[in-house]
Amino acid sequence: MFSSTRMVAVIACSTLILVSGASAQCARNYTVVSGDFCDEISATQHSSTFQLANANPSINADCTNIFAEEVICLGLLGRDCTTTTVIQPGDGCDTITAAAGIPLSTLLHNNPNVNADCTNISIGEVLCTSGGLFNYTV
Ligand SMILES: *[C@@H]1O[C@H](CO)[C@@H](O)[C@H](O)[C@H]1NC(C)=O
Ligand SMILES: *[C@@H]1O[C@H](CO)[C@@H](O)[C@H](O)[C@H]1NC(C)=O
Repeated sequence: MFSSTRMVAVIACSTLILVSGASAQCARNYTVVSGDFCDEISATQHSSTFQLANANPSINADCTNIFAEEVICLGLLGRDCTTTTVIQPGDGCDTITAAAGIPLSTLLHNNPNVNADCTNISIGEVLCTSGGLFNYTV
């Protein structure tokens, strides 16, 4: 009786280790330079605003807690979109999808921070405009 109870505990424990060991690996690193800010890193390094935040949960929403020489991740393995565009004045769903040659559904899938009408994007924000689909929620 007692030995079978202990067996269950051992199985539960090893399952936990497997889950925590499955954390995503970084596909591309970047070393922060003095004066950098997130959307500028996103634009020059081709990592969307959403992807950069997704790959670096420790960076705050205003991007005020990064520092020179810090190594950050530009994209996680298996979900590293490297095709990007920087939002310009007057851009909307129509101009972005036309320029990229992708359907709106792909743009919205790859940029979960954008609403269905693309009305909550801002100038300087960086979007993934790849024709491939990236699953950031895995
Ligand atoms: C990124 O940096 C981390 C920590 O410095 C390192 O372990 C990892 O191998 C680097 N990955 C790549 C793809 O360069
Ligand atoms: C834009 O809308 C999406 C979908 O409703 C939401 O998830 C996202 O937080 C919004 N982004 C901004 C910057 O308000």
